[in-house]
Amino acid sequence: MNNFKLSPEIILSDTCEEFCEKFKIGKNDLIITNEYIYKPYFESYANGATVIYRRDFGSGEPSDKMVEAIYNTVKDINFERVLGIGGGSILDVAKLFALEKLTPVCDLFEKKFKPAKNKKLVLIPTTCGTGSEVTNISVLHLSSINSKLGLADDEILADYAVLIPELLEVLPFKVFAASSIDALIHSIESFVSPKSSVFTEMYSIEAMKMILNGFKNIVQNGNDSLRNHFTDFLIASTYAGIAFGNAGCGAVHAMSYPLGSIYHVAHGESNYVFFTEIFKIYQKLNPNGKIKRLNKILSETLDCSEENVFDEIENLLYKILPKKSLKGYGTTEEDLQLFTDNVITKQGRLMSNAYVSLDRDTIYNIYKSLY
Ligand SMILES: [Fe+2]
Repeated sequence: MNNFKLSPEIILSDTCEEFCEKFKIGKNDLIITNEYIYKPYFESYANGATVIYRRDFGSGEPSDKMVEAIYNTVKDINFERVLGIGGGSILDVAKLFALEKLTPVCDLFEKKFKPAKNKKLVLIPTTCGTGSEVTNISVLHLSSINSKLGLADDEILADYAVLIPELLEVLPFKVFAASSIDALIHSIESFVSPKSSVFTEMYSIEAMKMILNGFKNIVQNGNDSLRNHFTDFLIASTYAGIAFGNAGCGAVHAMSYPLGSIYHVAHGESNYVFFTEIFKIYQKLNPNGKIKRLNKILSETLDCSEENVFDEIENLLYKILPKKSLKGYGTTEEDLQLFTDNVITKQGRLMSNAYVSLDRDTIYNIYKSLY
């Protein structure tokens, strides 16, 4: 049986001005964002909304402590609608504020109580990667387990996902690169997920083609040509979000979580470390499953032989963003066992979507080969 859910309502708006005129921001709104996005694009339309800058509550990946601190700041303010304007971490945090009860945050994520939404939620991505605007997932670093953990529940689905290509203008190239590689991984992991369906495949395939063609264009025409592709990358990352929101991501995301959590490596960048290596292992373990179809699609898009698709992707991505070894982020050899333990004990939600189930030795050996 296949399940496919398409929610929220998706709006593609040319400018912030057009969005603000339609949504009439006011005193009943809570906006969670970054100052460098909010000031130039939204401040003149805010009309008394409560504004929270995520950076005022800590840097790095979002955590339960950050959410608790924001909650303590806004708990006595009445608001009926939450607007998250930012990258994936801001959207993941904003989702929680649409809930009637969100604290203790660790208890929420460890499913000690059920989430219930009682406010409208509008999510506006300012990167082209996470797809968080269309998924029912929020990922935080939890102090109780010293690791990232995802909460997946339809109560944190947005009412509106608003795509505004103009907002990508202020995105540094490195952030663009890491976030769009994340979106590419969403499209490819969801394509080979056991939960994929004819519906998710359509979004996965279109997203991977759009992103790879966009990368080829940038390599050919230089980083400045990126601005011609903002809309395509934004749409592709939302397509990939729809695909993985239904079919799930797998071992790449699971194995990157400990690196992201402990060494504060940005989400897309930490996925990038593991991506091609894991797919080469998948290829070895089960070359005749769905990966065969994937290789065909990728070889046509990249104009290379089916045997070389992951080497070819590696070469292309390296021109967009050079890749580091695990050691390059400060990890130690002892960490590799800890990372493996974390994947085995805490990342079951993601590992169940892996193309081939990976045992402890295989996981450890992948970490070791990338060390
Ligand atoms: Fe991701």
